[in-house]
Amino acid sequence: MEKHLNILNEKIEKAKLGGGVERIASQHKKGKLTARERIDLLMDEGSFEEIGMMVTHRSTDFGMEKEIYLGDGVVTGYGTINGRLTYVFSQDFTVFGGSLSETHAEKICKLMDLAMKNGAPVIGLNDSGGARIQEGVVSLGGYADIFYRNTVASGVIPQLSAIMGPCAGGAVYSPAITDFIMMVEKSSYMFVTGPNVVKTVTHEEVSSEDLGGANTHASKSGVTHFTCGNEVEAIQLLKRLLSYMPQNCEEKPKSLPYEVLSDERREALNKLIPENPNQPYDMREVIEGLIDEESFTEVHKDWAENIVVGFARIAGKSVGIVANQPAVLAGVLDINSSRKGARFVRFCDCFNIPLLVLVDVPGFLPGTDQEWHGIITNGAKLLYALSEATVPKVTVITRKAYGGAYDVMNSKHIGADMNYAWPTAEIAVMGAKGAVEIIFKKEIERSASPEQALKEKTDLYAEKFANPYGAAARGFIDEVIEPATTRLKLIRAYAMLENKVVNNPRKKHGNIPL
Ligand code: HXC
Repeated sequence: MEKHLNILNEKIEKAKLGGGVERIASQHKKGKLTARERIDLLMDEGSFEEIGMMVTHRSTDFGMEKEIYLGDGVVTGYGTINGRLTYVFSQDFTVFGGSLSETHAEKICKLMDLAMKNGAPVIGLNDSGGARIQEGVVSLGGYADIFYRNTVASGVIPQLSAIMGPCAGGAVYSPAITDFIMMVEKSSYMFVTGPNVVKTVTHEEVSSEDLGGANTHASKSGVTHFTCGNEVEAIQLLKRLLSYMPQNCEEKPKSLPYEVLSDERREALNKLIPENPNQPYDMREVIEGLIDEESFTEVHKDWAENIVVGFARIAGKSVGIVANQPAVLAGVLDINSSRKGARFVRFCDCFNIPLLVLVDVPGFLPGTDQEWHGIITNGAKLLYALSEATVPKVTVITRKAYGGAYDVMNSKHIGADMNYAWPTAEIAVMGAKGAVEIIFKKEIERSASPEQALKEKTDLYAEKFANPYGAAARGFIDEVIEPATTRLKLIRAYAMLENKVVNNPRKKHGNIPL
């Protein structure tokens, strides 16, 4: 037996070295951790069980039979994160640049099949040069096998992707199908083709950072949901994100212990809305006055900043928040903010996370740029996503709720369960001045003092419509509330909605305007 054990231990030690000490040193020199170091930081101590450590590639072209590394460039297995079963794969850049061979793909697929059968999240730690160039089509097939599983698993189990190195080609499409992507600043890149190919095809000269670095994807493309200063931060964020989610679509998120919110935070809400309706304020301050202390995790913080979305807890329970941000572009809805909101709403609905929608929106952004790029189709995404969501849905209108945007932002008419408004709410087809300029145009023009007439009519319109009482009179608003009481109202509303069931007509799946 001893001889056999020695052979086994030798192989284990060899596998643990991946592409060898020199390549590990080079990985460290770039400020990157190895695949195994990342797993050690992510999983509860001693909980990780590896699957497929002895797997090797089958390639014999280009002298590949002489370059065999146990594990073939990806460490796969399962363990616990804060006590919860989680599956993880971690690509090893020290083995052929983490590139995906046939067997590398098989290992990831095996893991995903187990995760789906057992209903637990999958985390991918991606660090890969894409398809293993020496293998040709079998590698492409391997990618497609993963994409297919990502799609089948979508909405069944949470799938999170951390990008921890240069990810090119096929290496970007699997993360793109998963629920959330996070990138590490300065050491991770995502692109379909790198700067050299770009130069050949389009003659553009662009650096890796500008083409597909963390900040580019966080602020320009919206491909990444989060950027992290380093890999340790990214791993902490993965754990934090999981804490808001259930294990799978059949479960609800677990409640966590919480600190009672301070009276000052709640009461600050009574003074937050400026007297002047055109003056901005930060919707994040509203959020802080409603949720458990330090429970907010903002998603897509630097992209489409005119809408704020993220996870939080109210009395220990997960909620997904979608909020217009009056501090950016007056909180207007445009193409990107609609896409951002819709994607987040759909995630929450997949995984039984109740929604809280905070409304201060002047309408949809007008103009040729928006129309030509499809504000109609894209705005409809948010409308569709909120309409189809069957989780508990609660709305609070803090100030403006104008026009189509009133309907879209979780109005009673599209299935919201509880709709609250603050006394400062203005629920109307449009702002008072704009409305008066249209409906009283001739009267104002003919008046002896058009300016005075405009002011009088505007005041009249504002008095009649720029308030929540017309909507409350029709039951579109359930209650007009003092801002400082909002947290209590929400706690009670979510408790009341805890067992909500919606039976919509049976269908294969809807056809969201993509
Ligand atoms: C095989 C690869 C590889 C690949 C890198 N390596 N990418 N081996 N297949 N795709 C190997 C290198 O030969 C090298 O081996 C080691 O990994 C490290 O690579 P370096 O180039 O030295 O590292 P670095 O300078 O950090 O650059 C990393 C990189 C670059 C940006 C990822 O290697 C690169 O551009 N690779 C090719 C990317 C690519 O075009 N992939 C194919 C995409 S097509 P040694 O032995 O020296 O350590 C694709 C199709 C799928 O993915 C489409 C599905 C939709």
